[in-house]
Amino acid sequence: MAKAPAFTCTNCGAAHTKWAGQCDVCGAWNTLVEERPLTAGPAARALAAGKAIPLTDLATVAEAPPRTEAGVAELDRVLGGGLVPASAVLVGGDPGIGKSTLLLQAAARFARGGLKVLYVSGEESAAQIQMRAARLGLTESPVALAAETGLRDILTTLEAETPDLVIIDSIQTMWLDSVEAAPGSVSQVRAAAHALTSFAKRKGIAVIMVGHVTKEGQIAGPRVVEHMVDTVLYFEGERGHQFRILRSHKNRFGPADEIGVFEMTGRGLVEVKNPSALFLSERGEPAPGSVVFAGIEGSRPVLCEFQALVAPSPHAQARRSVVGWDGGRLAMILAVLESRCGLPFAGLDVYLNVAGGLKISDPGADLAVAAALISAREDAALPKECVILGEISLSGALRPVAQTENRLKEAAKLGFTTAITPQAKKRSAAAGLTLRQMADLPGFVAETFGTQAAGGRTEQGRRSQ
Ligand code: TYD
Ligand code: MG
Repeated sequence: MAKAPAFTCTNCGAAHTKWAGQCDVCGAWNTLVEERPLTAGPAARALAAGKAIPLTDLATVAEAPPRTEAGVAELDRVLGGGLVPASAVLVGGDPGIGKSTLLLQAAARFARGGLKVLYVSGEESAAQIQMRAARLGLTESPVALAAETGLRDILTTLEAETPDLVIIDSIQTMWLDSVEAAPGSVSQVRAAAHALTSFAKRKGIAVIMVGHVTKEGQIAGPRVVEHMVDTVLYFEGERGHQFRILRSHKNRFGPADEIGVFEMTGRGLVEVKNPSALFLSERGEPAPGSVVFAGIEGSRPVLCEFQALVAPSPHAQARRSVVGWDGGRLAMILAVLESRCGLPFAGLDVYLNVAGGLKISDPGADLAVAAALISAREDAALPKECVILGEISLSGALRPVAQTENRLKEAAKLGFTTAITPQAKKRSAAAGLTLRQMADLPGFVAETFGTQAAGGRTEQGRRSQ
């Protein structure tokens, strides 16, 4: 029988069977600590003497949890229709992206809606938070404030105050004196999050925790907190852009992958009711390499612009640079274009960008990306007011995507007149939109760009080589 792992790395959480000076998973030094298995001692003996737990069945329907809405539609939707009492929510994001701002604004809204709200900050002083509240025009809201990092005192305060909602900013600054590790370490974060969520659940208090994301994209002391909470939200966006997206990665009380869109302004975060209009607002006349994709994020249609640039590479190895989309997927599209349509990209640098700092994970974006790449390579703009969607298979065939109808409706609403989609048995339609359905990628290339799929190139395309 394999020996059970007895050592855990406090930096990355990896399990090891024996002690070592360096964790061979994350490379950190002196981070392995022993976790004693419960085979002997009082703890194991205590395990043997339990009492029978009452059992129930699947037919018993629990009542849907009552929810409290913040009155911020973008936040309420991501939470699955409002805040569930006694639930635990983790809000992750890069430092400086706006988590504290979002939660202070949410705290004020919940407080005005009648909840008793306690905001605990371990990062800023009360005076700093008050200054921010003044700038955001929130000083009138009855939010109780504390600047504290000692969890023992926080829990005692919660016991006495029994608020409906407590906001902890951030979980990495909290520490329990019973755990011998520095604040921010995996053991502390894990213990603090566990103590908070279990206490809050017992007392019927909803808790929202902020968690900072490390460079690798995980919350530091990370994954350990994700499984403890009911809902995991990520606040994402590019620092240079004003858009911020709150995305649900896990939600025990609602759909995952739902998004809320905000704009960071001088007076805090403002919700964006119509994100498509915002993402397309900076678009001018149709330019080569620019394509509008009719996407879906969660349950809502979002139109956005893909921009591609293709230029002769001065390097031996041509560059592939992509922002807002999957690099592996880009490599796949380039390979399909080369082998199925005779459009080689060898010797050409390829840059792909999603305008507005948006991150697209929808597989339906394949055809829009291919169109942007060909349009840039051939230096030929697509027709005006045209949206594109569809998934590309390795054979070059086009596959229909989910919720085509919703996507087309959104496009028609924003004044688009043509949609290029894969052929589908069920014909989705939207009023005022001309549908051009394509069976495969070579057909799409020939029809849209007038380029013969078997290697035909336009004058400009040849010149750019
Ligand atoms: P913050 O909420 O402190 O980020 P986090 O808690 O995620 O670290 O927000 C930091 C940034 O937001 C800061 O660089 C300034 C900007 N900001 C505004 O642009 N407008 C505002 O009204 C506020 C409060 C912050
Ligand atoms: Mg903060």
